[in-house]
Amino acid sequence: MKHDRSNRIRELIGQTTVLPVLVIDDAAKAMPLARALADGGLKLIEITLRTPAALSAIAAIVAALPEIVVGAGTVCHAIDARRAHEAGARFAVSPGHSMELGNACAELGLPFLPGVATASEVMAARNDGYEVLKFFPAEAAGGLEMLDALAGPFPDVMFCPTGGINAANAPAYLALSNVLCVGGSWIAPRAEVTAGNWAKLTELAATAARLQRGG
Ligand code: 3PG
Repeated sequence: MKHDRSNRIRELIGQTTVLPVLVIDDAAKAMPLARALADGGLKLIEITLRTPAALSAIAAIVAALPEIVVGAGTVCHAIDARRAHEAGARFAVSPGHSMELGNACAELGLPFLPGVATASEVMAARNDGYEVLKFFPAEAAGGLEMLDALAGPFPDVMFCPTGGINAANAPAYLALSNVLCVGGSWIAPRAEVTAGNWAKLTELAATAARLQRGG
C-alpha cells in the first residue's frame, strides 16, 4: 500500500458529522448561504462543480468568510481539481476514484476524498493510499447494510456516505463504526436557496449539526 494519502481529509472532515453538499445556481447566493449554514453550526461545506456558478461561489465564500472551510465536489478530472484549487477550495470530493485525479490533488496539496461503491473499488482506492472514502451513491449502492458489510474486510477504512441521506436516516448511518460523517443536499434544498430563505436554512443546519457519531 502507498503512504496514507487520507491524513488531511480525515482531519478536515473528522471535524464535522454532517457535510452539506451544495448545488449553487447563482454565485450571489453563495455567501449568504454559507453564512446561514455556519450560523447553524456547519462550517465545513462542499460546493459541487455541477453548475457554471460553482467556482465563483467557492471564490466568493473564500474571500468573504475565511472561517468557513469550503471544498469542491463532483471533481471528476485533474482540471477540475486545478480549477477548484485556484478558486480557493480546501479539499476535493469525487463521486469516484482515479489515480490521475488522486495524483493531481496530491500535487496541488489538496486533500482528496475519492468515491467508491463496491469492495473492489475500496481495494483499488486503498491500494492507492486512501483510507477515508466517500460511499456513493449510498442509498442506491446498498445503504446501511452494504456499509456495515464493508466493515468486515476493511476495518481500517472510514466512510462518508452521500446520496439519499436525509434527516431521517442520517442517525443510523452515523451509528455505524466505519462512518466518519455523512453528506447530503437535504440541509440546503435548492428551492430554499433560490428563495433566499436563510433563517430556514440556518434551522436545517442547526438540526443537522446536532447529529452525533455513534447514533
Ligand atoms: C453527492 O454528490 O454527494 C450527492 O449528489 C448528494 O446526494 P443527495 O443530493 O442525495 O444528498
